[in-house]
Amino acid sequence: MDGLTLKKLLKKADEGGYAIPSFNYSDIWDFMAIVEAAEEEGAPIMIASNPLVVKAIGADCCGAFGTAAMKRAKIPLVHLLDHSFTVEMCEDCINNNYPSVMIDASKYDLETNIKYVNEVMALAKPHNVHVEAEVGKIKGKGIEGDFKGGDFLVQVEDAAELVKRTNVDSLAIGIGSAHGFYQGKPQLNFERLNEVNHAIDTPLVLHGGTGIPREDVQKAIKMGINKVNVGTIIHCTYMNSVRAELNRVGDNAYTLDVMSAVKENIKNVVKEWIRTCMANGKA
Ligand code: 13P
Repeated sequence: MDGLTLKKLLKKADEGGYAIPSFNYSDIWDFMAIVEAAEEEGAPIMIASNPLVVKAIGADCCGAFGTAAMKRAKIPLVHLLDHSFTVEMCEDCINNNYPSVMIDASKYDLETNIKYVNEVMALAKPHNVHVEAEVGKIKGKGIEGDFKGGDFLVQVEDAAELVKRTNVDSLAIGIGSAHGFYQGKPQLNFERLNEVNHAIDTPLVLHGGTGIPREDVQKAIKMGINKVNVGTIIHCTYMNSVRAELNRVGDNAYTLDVMSAVKENIKNVVKEWIRTCMANGKA
């Protein structure tokens, strides 16, 4: 599996009117649950480690595990470094066989954003690694800190300029989605999504999937979103299930027993999201 395959998967999704879901993992247990769910749904998916996970486990271990899992998976599975804020971490993951990386320099001005994206493109392309960038901002609380309202919305001309000067493979856009849980119903700016989609051919990515109603996700897919990121609901299902299972089993719980119950809960969430993205049966 390499970045060229991902390009084909995203194109196929675009033509087929569905999106490739990308799920954030924290360790091997939710990783395994996500892959098993995708295999049972017959869905092509991406599986992503954010910088906190890469720092905690190491790009070498994440990369080795991801490589083995991609080889073994019965569905197209693409490992991704999500939201790297540094070129160095992208380089580390490229050197450890990640087929795709995201450089998130959206907090900088457009020129600086373009500069960082080009640096990552130069490192990635000799290895056929797929690169995602971000224009506009994803709201909410996340690894990048709190971002509350304000100037989050992607500017169409910024998206077009970044794509023209970097030739980046896919683009996350700020259209009102947020990392973490939403307070109230998320307000996505579909008009802006439509404008960006008409201005550029690059596959578009919706971040902050958790909490966006199914009909809004599907509307966004119809309007040009090709990849949907889901994280918070995976982490929360994981932790809440561990707590519930430990309470049920009591003392002296054995890891494998607890985790097989936990995995079933994570799998159910992943399957729901695969169906929301209409990616079931598309492997
Ligand atoms: P959520 O945590 O809100 O689902 O967003 C995930 C995400 O966008 C990861 O990049």
